[in-house]
Amino acid sequence: MADLAVITRQALDEVAACGDLAALEDARVRWLGKKGRITELLKSAGKLVASAGPEAVARVQKARADLEVAIVARRAEISRADIERKLVAERMDVTLPGRGEEPGGLHPVTKTRLRIETLFRQAGFDVASGPEIEDDFHNFGALNIPPDHPARAMHDTFYFPDGRLLRTHTSPVQIRALLEHGAPLALIAPGRVYRCDSDMTHSPMFHQLEGLAVGENVSFANMKAVLHGFLQAFFERDLAMRLRPSYFPFTEPSAEVDMSCVFCDGKGCRTCKHSGWLEISGCGMVHPNVLHASGVDPERYTGYAFGAGIDRLAMLRYGVNDLRLFFENDLRFLRQFRAFGA
Ligand code: FA5
Ligand code: MG
Repeated sequence: MADLAVITRQALDEVAACGDLAALEDARVRWLGKKGRITELLKSAGKLVASAGPEAVARVQKARADLEVAIVARRAEISRADIERKLVAERMDVTLPGRGEEPGGLHPVTKTRLRIETLFRQAGFDVASGPEIEDDFHNFGALNIPPDHPARAMHDTFYFPDGRLLRTHTSPVQIRALLEHGAPLALIAPGRVYRCDSDMTHSPMFHQLEGLAVGENVSFANMKAVLHGFLQAFFERDLAMRLRPSYFPFTEPSAEVDMSCVFCDGKGCRTCKHSGWLEISGCGMVHPNVLHASGVDPERYTGYAFGAGIDRLAMLRYGVNDLRLFFENDLRFLRQFRAFGA
C-alpha cells in the first residue's frame, strides 16, 4: 500500500502528459479500464483489507476519483487547445474589403431580340417559335421549294442521317403557325438558324427574325409601312428604306429590304461598300402555293412575310463590324454591352 501514492502520482503524470484525446483514452484504459491497474487493486479489496487495513480500500477509491477528475479536466484542456489551433489555422479577416462579383449582362444578340419583340408586340404582332430540327416539308417543300429546286443549293443545309435537318431559316415557322392557327394572323418568329457558312458577315449559326401577316386585305404597302416603322423605332432615327426586286420561292413578288447606312448616313463608306445602303432582310407577298400548303385559301387571304438577320441588326445598332465576335464569347467584348440598355 505504500506504493499507492507512487502509483497515483505516476497515473496523474501520465494523464498530464497526454497530448491528444487518443493518448488520454489509452491512459484511462490503462489505469481505470476493466483491467486497469487501479481497477485491479479494487477488485482484490479483500486482500487489500487483510494486508493494509480497512481504510486502504477508501484510499484506492479516492485515488480512482482523483484520477477521474484529472482525466475529465485534461480532456477539456485538450479539446480547448484543438479549437484554438483550428481557429488560428482558419482565421479570416472579416474587416478586409470585399472582392465583389462582376455583375453579368445579357448577350447583345439577346438584347436585340428582346428589343425587337417589344417593338413588334406594340404593333400587334404575336411572338411565335418553332423547332430548330426541322423536316424537309416545313423547311423546303411547303415553302414552294421542291426537291430539285435550285434554291436548295443556296441554303448549305446541315442534314441528319435520317433526312431531318437543322432549319436553314425561320420561314418554316410560317407553315407551322398557319397550320396551327389559320388566318388571319400576325406574328414574328425570332430564332436560331444554321447554314454551312462562315466569314466576317456569315456564321454557321445565326439568328433570323421571321415576320408573317395574313388577312383578307393585307398588302405589299402594309408590309412596307410596318418594316419602315420598325427600322425607325429600332434605330431611333429617321432612316431611309428601299425595296429592291428579288426572288424567293415562297414569296411573289419578292424584295430585299435596304436601309440607309447607319455608319455614314447614306453618304457611302466601307461598311456599305460605298453604296450608302445596307441589306437587312428579304420579304415579299406570301406565295399562293405556301398558303395552299398551309391550309389557307389563297383566293380569300393574302399575306406578307419577311426574314431579317437579327445578328446583322445587332451589328448595325452596336457598331460591330465582325459577326463572329458575337459568338466567340470573349468577355472583353461582351463586357462592353453591359452599359447598353436593350
Ligand atoms: C431567307 O432566309 C428567307 N427565308 C428570308 C425571307 C423570309 C424572305 C420571308 C421572304 C419572306 P436569306 O437567305 O437572304 O433569306 O437570309 C435572310 C437574312 O438572314 C439575310 O438578309 C441576312 O441578314 C441574314 N443571313 C443570311 N445568312 C447569314 C449568315 N450565314 N450569317 C448571318 N446572317 C445571315
Ligand atoms: Mg439574302
